[in-house]
Amino acid sequence: MLSMELENKVSFKRCIREGDLVIVYERHDNMKAVKVCENGVLQNRFGVFKHSDWIGKPFGSKVFSNKGGFIYLLAPTAELWTLVLSHRTQILYVADISFVIMYLEIIPGCLVLESGTGSGSLTTSLARAVAPTGHVYTFDFHDQRASSAREDFEKTGLSSLVTVGVRDIQGEGFPDEFIGQADSVFLDLPQPWLAIPSAGKMLKEDGVLCSFSPCIEQVQRSCETLKSCFTDIRTFEILLRSYEVREERLESWENHAGGSLGSRKRRQRSTDGSNGVEASVSATIVARPSSEGRGHTGYLTFARLRCVI
Ligand SMILES: C[S@@+](CC[C@H](N)C(=O)[O-])C[C@H]1O[C@@H](n2cnc3c(N)ncnc32)[C@H](O)[C@@H]1O
Repeated sequence: MLSMELENKVSFKRCIREGDLVIVYERHDNMKAVKVCENGVLQNRFGVFKHSDWIGKPFGSKVFSNKGGFIYLLAPTAELWTLVLSHRTQILYVADISFVIMYLEIIPGCLVLESGTGSGSLTTSLARAVAPTGHVYTFDFHDQRASSAREDFEKTGLSSLVTVGVRDIQGEGFPDEFIGQADSVFLDLPQPWLAIPSAGKMLKEDGVLCSFSPCIEQVQRSCETLKSCFTDIRTFEILLRSYEVREERLESWENHAGGSLGSRKRRQRSTDGSNGVEASVSATIVARPSSEGRGHTGYLTFARLRCVI
């Protein structure tokens, strides 16, 4: 995903190499992550694709199967990874993630604390945002989830930017070594109010906390707890609406005396010619909200640590 060069400079490898992770793109709703191996093949409804044909090609290339079918080979960006990762838990998606990164003011060099890690969807974007000199310390009390997340960060090339710890953050809080060190803290926990006092201790002065909760009752309880040490407490629900824009053939009816209904490519006289009505078929670009739009995901509550002088 990201490769670190000498002196911690971030670079994006643009050519595909043996061992790289690529996102095989058929359509926006049909993608999967594949590790490239010299002798590997990918088989799908379009035919057989040899990995050896991919090596040396730039990310973004269109490649063909033995039957002339094609796919695109995309770089495994954080945005695409969120769509293809294996869902071991509920995850955060792009709309919430982008808002979190912005509102937590995460920039290269930041130290970020997170719990729980879950499927690592948010962690992947946090890691990219703090690169090349920052670090994300993420904690989950579920051992197997923590190991799977570590394996994923190896695969996506982010392991030098993320440390995954196994810890009950609601019960024990974050480790003391981070007291006063964190630029931001993110919580996606069932009872975040239990972890808020510890999160407050970990933040640098003026640091920002975010808590993601699916239910408003969790938000109300978290806000009550936040009041003691935090200011500027705000809750948002991010609703995303995506659109389909495509060409469609529209059929319309027009009276001879009537006005026009846009440009026509083809005009047909109605079969019986009755009533002086003509049917016209036109190709038009239509845009309509997509049916696959996601509704409620959760509430994002942000709060800034109050400075005590
Ligand atoms: C919904 S998932 C987090 C998903 C994550 N934000 C993502 O985008 O992939 C919540 C995680 O919190 C973990 N968790 C629940 N209670 C915890 C606790 N007390 N301490 C640490 N982790 C906990 C669960 O094991 C689970 O993996």
